[in-house]
Amino acid sequence: MEEKLARRRRRVLLIPAPAQGHITPIIQLAKALHFKGFSITIAQTKFNYLNPSKNLSDFQFVTIPESLQESDLKNLGPGRFMIKLAKECYVSFKDWLGQFLVKQQTINEEIVCVIYDEFMYFVEAAVKEFKLHNVILSTTSASAFVCRFVMFKLYAIDGLAHLKGSGGREEELVPELYPIRYKDLPTSVFAPVEISVELFKNTCYKGTASSIIINTVRCLEISSLEWLQRELAIPVYPIGPLHMVASASPTSLLEEDKSCIKWLNKQKSSSVVYISLGSFTMMETKEVLEMASGLVSSNQSFLWVIRPGSIRTSEMSEEELFRKMVTLERGCIVKWAPQKQVLAHSAVGAFWSHCGWNSTLESLGEGVPMICRPFTTDQKGNARYLECVWKVGIQVEGEIERGVVERAVKRLMVDEEGEEMKRRALILKEKLKVSVSAEGSSHKSLDDFIKTL
Ligand code: UDX
Repeated sequence: MEEKLARRRRRVLLIPAPAQGHITPIIQLAKALHFKGFSITIAQTKFNYLNPSKNLSDFQFVTIPESLQESDLKNLGPGRFMIKLAKECYVSFKDWLGQFLVKQQTINEEIVCVIYDEFMYFVEAAVKEFKLHNVILSTTSASAFVCRFVMFKLYAIDGLAHLKGSGGREEELVPELYPIRYKDLPTSVFAPVEISVELFKNTCYKGTASSIIINTVRCLEISSLEWLQRELAIPVYPIGPLHMVASASPTSLLEEDKSCIKWLNKQKSSSVVYISLGSFTMMETKEVLEMASGLVSSNQSFLWVIRPGSIRTSEMSEEELFRKMVTLERGCIVKWAPQKQVLAHSAVGAFWSHCGWNSTLESLGEGVPMICRPFTTDQKGNARYLECVWKVGIQVEGEIERGVVERAVKRLMVDEEGEEMKRRALILKEKLKVSVSAEGSSHKSLDDFIKTL
């Protein structure tokens, strides 16, 4: 009895990167660990702070002090912003951690592990001074991790020249990286290559991390996982898709408009194209109008997420654009959708996506084939895997023009080719379900990881 009372509580400290696509999977991982009996602390930056809902009341949320503003993200772009954030947070996080550890001892708690998003690499430098068990969480695909490594190594050989293929032929495949072409390497539309390379050098540095957890599945990315295992020489745990592992919890930074589910309820089975470009992709007004025309010509219904502020140039105000588009028949437009619920809806037949990794996993998890329109970084590689490896998507390249949009939508929604993709997507869906089941590879991987705590 006494021994039981004296047993220390085991706490895991998790540090998300402050972006929607990174917050969601780390909270899902926290839920899975909490279910296994661990106490949870989430240390978030003030920037993009997830307001913890009632569903997360079992977790402790703390803030890492920093002074970054929305305007910094706008002015610097995501790459430079993350580098600045790492510099700002290192000292404040270390100070906070020191005090936190003292407090934990007084209440008989033990921090068994610190899990940090790969883009919050400053955490490794801070925790090693306290000799804490630390682990990297990669919220992008294993292939994206490999691409970052390769890009950073190619750049080290002779800078930009090696990132463009021989003689600047960006269409060429990168050796031993099928199906990635030089143009699919995770360069960013927001920053010069040097900035991406600096960031990747840090995200690929394992330091004292004892292992890496990846939100992916063996059956999707076995060769990239093996590559990483060889290169990093520490255990690599593929434990995804995390949204299928953990119970659902609200992690949206924006308010979800659930009215679109009522609209979907009125649509025929597999008749709707769902369009969403994630949490920070931007579009030009011209592209939006070309897409709208193409969708109308395709004769398919659509549910379109247009985030406030996501349309870059505006000869027309967003309000006007909305008005023009809602007069289109067969369309429903929302500012932010309950995406997982939408993809699980029987009315949805295809997903027009920027191919962010979360969106990709959520679509594969529901057996929904995709029209891939990547915008930046890892999204390009994800689109290639969807089209060339898993064969459940078609990529739209080049300028967005109404005829191109119409053809892509028809290929997926009307043609036999689309039927075949749908069949393959449903097979993959079953494989992912098996992976997270009691006998599955992701389930086993999570158990193996927990044994190390
Ligand atoms: C970013 C990068 O773009 C992505 O490539 C990287 O893999 C993770 O970080 P983001 O652009 O936000 O993420 O895309 P994605 O990874 O797809 O994440 C978006 C999340 O927002 C998904 O979980 C999706 O379900 C959710 N979402 C999106 C909504 O809940 N509602 C919406 O209307 C749109």
